[in-house]
Amino acid sequence: MGGMSQRSGRHFLQIPGPTNVPERILRAMDRATMDHRGPAFGRLGREVLTGLKEIFKTTGPVVIYPASGTGAWEAALVNTLSPGDRVLMAETGQFATLWRGLAERLGLAVEFLPGDWRRGVDPAAVEARLADDRAHEIKAVCIVHNETSTGVASRVADVRGAIDRAGHPALFMVDTISSLASMEYRHDEWGVDVTVAGSQKGLMLPPGLSFNAIGPKALAAAEAARLPRSYWAWAPMLKANETGYFPYTPATNLLYGLREAIAMLTEEGLETVFARHARLGEATRRAVSAWGLEILCAEPREYSNSLTAVLMPEGHDADAFRKVTLERFNMSLGNGLGKVQGKVFRIGHLGDFNELMLAGTLAGVEMGLAAAGVPHARGGVQSALDYLCDRASAPASRERRTG
Ligand SMILES: Cc1ncc(COP(=O)(O)O)c(C=O)c1O
Repeated sequence: MGGMSQRSGRHFLQIPGPTNVPERILRAMDRATMDHRGPAFGRLGREVLTGLKEIFKTTGPVVIYPASGTGAWEAALVNTLSPGDRVLMAETGQFATLWRGLAERLGLAVEFLPGDWRRGVDPAAVEARLADDRAHEIKAVCIVHNETSTGVASRVADVRGAIDRAGHPALFMVDTISSLASMEYRHDEWGVDVTVAGSQKGLMLPPGLSFNAIGPKALAAAEAARLPRSYWAWAPMLKANETGYFPYTPATNLLYGLREAIAMLTEEGLETVFARHARLGEATRRAVSAWGLEILCAEPREYSNSLTAVLMPEGHDADAFRKVTLERFNMSLGNGLGKVQGKVFRIGHLGDFNELMLAGTLAGVEMGLAAAGVPHARGGVQSALDYLCDRASAPASRERRTG
C-alpha cells in the first residue's frame, strides 16, 4: 500500500464537496441492506420523496437517481429537449463548461454567454439574447447557481426576471449541486422548471445520489421531448415513486442517510442553516482579506457561502501550497479546476460545519501559507474569530436580516 501512513487526529476535509458526513448520518446508513420491493422500503421511499420537497421549496415531484450530479444534469436535458434544440448557457466556470460539453454531446446546440470566471450569470445578457430570439428557437436557459470552481453564486431570481421581461417561453434549469441546503434556494417561487442537485455537499451525504425537482412546465415538455432516454426517464420513475418505490434498484443505504439528513436540516431549520453558512462564509472572506490575498469572486453580492476560491499571489503555485497543507496539517483544500488550475485554491465551508471547524480550517490555511512561503499578512484567523465572536452574540433576528 502506497501513500500516507496512519495519522492521528481528524483529517480536515475542506474541499467544497464531498463534505464531512456527520455521525448521525453515518449511523443511519450503517444498517443491513433491505428488500427494495418490500413494505418497509415503500415507507422510506415515501418519506424521503416527501421530505425533499421542503428542501427544494417545491410542491412538485423530486426524483432521486443512484448517480452523481452529472447524471442529474443529463436527466434534466434528455427528459425535456429534442435533438438539435438550442439552449442558452453561461460561462460561469468549470462546471458550466462541463454541462455545456454534456449538452453538446447529446446533440443540443449550445449558445454559451462568455464570462471571466469571476462573476455570475449576467441577467441583462440573458434578457438581451432572449429578446433577440423572436422565433423562440432557444428552448432552455441552463445555469449553475453556485459555481463550485469559482465560489460565485448567480442570482437565480434575477435570471428568472430576465426571462420574464423578455417574454420568452424557454425552460429554466438550475444546477444547485453545491448550493442546495447551504444557500437560499426556492424552486417554485423562483420559477425554475428543473432543479439539479446532488447528495455530497449541503445534504451532508456521501456521493451517489442526485436529484431533479420537476416543475409543471418541464413535465409537459417531457411528453413532447425526443432525446433518447431510458435510465433517466422521468415517467417510469414518477409512476413507481407514487407508492414510494423505484423502477430499478435504488441506493437503499444512502436513502437511510438522506432521511436522516432531511431530519437534521429540518431540526436546525433551513433559515438557520443558511444563516450559519452566511456567517462562516463571511468569516472566511475576512480571513482572506486580512491575509492580503484576493477572492476570485469579483462581485461581493455574488459571494458564495458554501466555498471561497482564493487567488494565489503571482509566481506561487496553488497546488504546491495545497500539498503542504495536506502533508503538514492533514487538511485537504480544493484545487483550481480548468483554466484556474494552479492559480486558485478553494476553501469549502459547507455542510456539517461550525465555528470551531472553520477556525481549525483557517488556522491550517494560515500555517500552510507560512510553511509554503506564500507572501501574506498574519492575522487572518484572528479577524475571522473576531467576526464570529461578535456574531455569536447577535440575536437571531439580526442574523436573518443581514445574513
Ligand atoms: C456545481 C456543480 N455541478 C456539477 C457537478 C458535478 O457533479 P458530480 O461530480 O457529482 O457528477 C459538481 C461537482 O462538484 C458541481 O459542484
